[in-house]
Amino acid sequence: MMNNGTITGTISGAARLAGVMGWPIGHSLSPRIHGYWLETLGIDGAYVPLAVAPENLADALRALPKLGFAGVNITIPHKQTALAALDHVDDLARRIGAVNTVTVGAGGTLAGSNTDAFGFIENLRAGAPRLEFGGAPVVILGAGGAARGVAVALIDAGAADIRLLNRTRARAEALAGDLGGIEILDWRERADALDGAALLVNTTSLGMTGAAALDLSLEKLPSSAVVNDIVYAPLQTPLLAAARARGNEVVDGLGMLLHQARPAFAAWFGAEPEVTPGLRDHILGP
Ligand code: ATR
Repeated sequence: MMNNGTITGTISGAARLAGVMGWPIGHSLSPRIHGYWLETLGIDGAYVPLAVAPENLADALRALPKLGFAGVNITIPHKQTALAALDHVDDLARRIGAVNTVTVGAGGTLAGSNTDAFGFIENLRAGAPRLEFGGAPVVILGAGGAARGVAVALIDAGAADIRLLNRTRARAEALAGDLGGIEILDWRERADALDGAALLVNTTSLGMTGAAALDLSLEKLPSSAVVNDIVYAPLQTPLLAAARARGNEVVDGLGMLLHQARPAFAAWFGAEPEVTPGLRDHILGP
């Protein structure tokens, strides 16, 4: 890339390698995130998209040490199936039931971890530093893959009163059964569930570009509550717009994606990257 007349972003024959495996992979923002950090930190490395069909996942993972990769991120649809293809999976990833980061260890072993819970909490801490939920209820909407990471993150951060609501109640019950310490309410009770809450998190796909908006009255939500949407396209979802309009503090979902990338980058490339306004602009830019 030419930047003020200086050629940057070139890699040497000794470059460290990482990437992201998914199917399809064309919409992944991870190459832009890691590419920004590699360039701004001046690291000799590359992070590439890897289109890996489901039937090839195990072979592709096993090829990583042979190709000299330091590791990869794992995204849709491989996050759950990757567990069985790895040599070690840490406790956090097992509780979440999904792997999003693979690191190649000594002797070519493959270790799986999950940084989504870290990304979720770091985004909340950065966006709403005064938020405390040790005593007050937190409300999670949705019980899909993303909700598992969010629920584990909140349990580990000390949330003692978690209310989980999902359109398909059985899915919420399965999640609560796996993790424990979660109260299930019916999807129809979602407006009442906001009573007294310190935090509301939307993990459903409602509000995403092309999807219907989340149909939810915020009347019972305390004005002191923080509202977080893990949907980041659009950045300002109808839920966040409605919450902001009534005076609630809001945290958008892009930061979760950016923060979850930090531990993997540090493990593969040996430097601690930061989430900065410049990174956000780069990801949101053309
Ligand atoms: P992800 O991995 O991103 O969480 P997912 O596993 O497909 O994706 O989960 C999508 C979530 O959005 C689920 O909680 C889903 O509810 P169901 O379990 O009932 O399917 C929720 N969702 C999607 N469309 C919805 C809708 N129209 N109304 C309510 N919830 C919806």
